[in-house]
Amino acid sequence: MSKGFQRLPGFRDFPPEDLAVRSHIFEAWRRVSRRYGFLEYDGPPLEPLELYVEKSGPEIVGQLYNFTDKGDRAVALRPEMTPSLARILAERSRALPKPIRWFAVPQLFRYERQQRGRLREHFQWNVDVVGEEGVSADAEVLAVGLDGLRALGLTDQDVRARVSDRRLLAALLSAGGVEEGRRMAAFGVIDKLEREGPDKTSERLIAATGVSEREAGAILELLGGTLDDVATHFAGRDEVAEEVARLREYMGTLGAMGLGSFVELDLRIVRGLAYYTGIVFELFDRKGKMRAICGGGRYDRLLELVGGEALPAVGFGMGDVVLTDLLRERGLLPDTARSIDYFLVTVVDELRPQLLTLAHALRDQGRSVAYSLKPQSVGKQFKVAASEGAREVIVLGPTEMSRGVAMVKDMASGQEREVSLKELWGRTDG
Ligand code: HAM
Repeated sequence: MSKGFQRLPGFRDFPPEDLAVRSHIFEAWRRVSRRYGFLEYDGPPLEPLELYVEKSGPEIVGQLYNFTDKGDRAVALRPEMTPSLARILAERSRALPKPIRWFAVPQLFRYERQQRGRLREHFQWNVDVVGEEGVSADAEVLAVGLDGLRALGLTDQDVRARVSDRRLLAALLSAGGVEEGRRMAAFGVIDKLEREGPDKTSERLIAATGVSEREAGAILELLGGTLDDVATHFAGRDEVAEEVARLREYMGTLGAMGLGSFVELDLRIVRGLAYYTGIVFELFDRKGKMRAICGGGRYDRLLELVGGEALPAVGFGMGDVVLTDLLRERGLLPDTARSIDYFLVTVVDELRPQLLTLAHALRDQGRSVAYSLKPQSVGKQFKVAASEGAREVIVLGPTEMSRGVAMVKDMASGQEREVSLKELWGRTDG
């Protein structure tokens, strides 16, 4: 007896109704990217392992699907797109006008512990601006992401963007007594703040950076504060003032775009990936029940790190998994019931050649047409028509044909009418 096969854990099949949802999301992503003038690109799903080591940080490297290929190369399935983008641009950026505005919708692979909203494969919309260091590029990138969600029917009642800046965090940490060499360790601890709570975070911050309990407490308090709190606390310190001014400009730009109600400052957002250098953000459902829908930020040194031109860059990745859950919860999934324009029925099988000719004439006009692939009773053919979601059924019968007409039934209203064959052949109406 043959053995059945199971799908690998964390991987998905996409039967037509699920693929229809996925395509609906991809179409919105692509439409909005193009609206902003971004060009689509792609790269290979398999990359040299080396591309991710050091650059993406230990969290992602621990989740790699990697192996040695038959040519003895250490390779990995791409867990994210940004290193591939950096690699592709290292080869080409010099010849490209700046800023480079590219987007992609790759399938990515991470060997994660399976949980709600996290699988071992997902599709991720990536939007990146490369070659512009000004804060307007940061705002533009977040605006694309928010508009992608708006195009799917989500509003500021459904999602929010939590924004922070690693430069401001670095300034806060230095002022709070954390040495530069311990900064990344501190980022790692803060990144887990929400999951682990303030007490554990404080303990871990002390252990990771050597700050006192009082210093750790002061840092954690500021992380929960507003931009005004930070500005007041550090009044007179130029390095902090500069970071605060940049964030205010960023918020102002998004406000002018009409997107201000989506955006909140939240200094607890650090992002898990190692390469971010400036403004970082994550998008969440308003109720805060789900994992992040999207994450991104500025990474001004990655291109240089992979051997390319030293270009500033900013971008995001938005996954399809949490987003689909959120759209389902909000009743925003598209109607995926199958439908076709016409189902053709013959009363007698001898009329099959005429049926085929008509089917092809209609298909040439761009209509979707189906018919039974084997002789069946009229009743059976109508049943198939209904299950195919046909809007109209065209019945070819010998008596009607001899009069140059066919019977057309509107499946929604049940109304029947006679239509001349000539008209059907040359049909161009809606
Ligand atoms: P990331 O935060 O690792 O960023 O992933 C971005 C988004 O992809 C997440 O917010 C989540 O929606 C989705 N995602 C990530 N891992 C999984 C998973 N295992 N299952 C389902 N969804 C997942 C990056 O990947 C950066 N490279 C984004 C970026 C682009 N930064 C700049 N440019």
